[in-house]
Amino acid sequence: MKQHALFDELLDKLSRELVLLPDKPEETPESTLRALWVLVAGQPMSVTSAMNQVLPDLDPGQQQELHNAIQRRLDGVPLAHISGRQSFMGMELLAGPQALIPRKETELLAASAIEILRQRDDETEVKVIDVCTGAGNVALAIAKAVGHARVYASDLSEEAVDLARMNTEMHELSDRVALYAGDLLEPFRNLELQGQVGMITCNPPYISSAKVPAMAPEISKHEPEMAFNGGAFGINLMRRLIAEAPDFLCSGGYLVFEVGLGQGPAMRKQVEKFPDYARVNTVEDAEGETRVIVAQRS
Ligand SMILES: C[S@@+](CC[C@H](N)C(=O)[O-])C[C@H]1O[C@@H](n2cnc3c(N)ncnc32)[C@H](O)[C@@H]1O
Repeated sequence: MKQHALFDELLDKLSRELVLLPDKPEETPESTLRALWVLVAGQPMSVTSAMNQVLPDLDPGQQQELHNAIQRRLDGVPLAHISGRQSFMGMELLAGPQALIPRKETELLAASAIEILRQRDDETEVKVIDVCTGAGNVALAIAKAVGHARVYASDLSEEAVDLARMNTEMHELSDRVALYAGDLLEPFRNLELQGQVGMITCNPPYISSAKVPAMAPEISKHEPEMAFNGGAFGINLMRRLIAEAPDFLCSGGYLVFEVGLGQGPAMRKQVEKFPDYARVNTVEDAEGETRVIVAQRS
């Protein structure tokens, strides 16, 4: 079959049958087809990068592989698990079932953190902790954008830490990004980072346990439950983080964390209860929803 006729036929199929999720706005029938097309041609890349690629001709074997890949996608396997790639803040990252697929919405957290770090007057090293690092996306985006940041990243899941390590090596950031497995801030107690950290970032699991059964199977069946199940009301980890972060932050240091839709006002109040924080700000998304809390240590 001619390449453009194959493209048109598959685009039509995807347009009719593909179920898209709102938290992956970069995925469309066309970007999906492009990402799978270049994948079977031996060039795995994220949908974001695939949109800018000239599509190579596929031989009959590759065309069959493309049909198979599209079927897997239509069966509900996340695109990033098929391609093994996801873009975050312009970085191509490895993605897989070991960790949450980095979401576009989390770029607001990374961008807010980077903006604050760039506003510092001095260019001496600043220590940043990224907890719940998953694939390492926030930690790596910060390290790449802020040359004087030394990043300590951790996750409870050893599989996630392994994936984050591969991403760190792929981006040649191992000299400034160190990875640890462990519960929340525990790995940093032995490193004696208490009182020395300029920023702590976190994208915690924040879906309430009661809502997990109603989640899209593309998420609940394929991504690690530990990455999204935040316990009763979805705020367990955030509450712990708010209480434990002041131990590690230096005076004037920042705690910057993502919240779920609708959780912003309650989490802001939660932070304001702690006298350790001098200031609390929020960052809103394009729809005006609070998605990031920024708390500054007194
Ligand atoms: C929402 S995901 C965020 C992953 C990544 N930072 C991102 O933005 O895509 C939450 C992460 O928290 C980790 N996690 C869950 N409970 C944890 C805990 N008690 N301590 C450390 N990490 C935890 C999960 O394994 C998961 O990788």
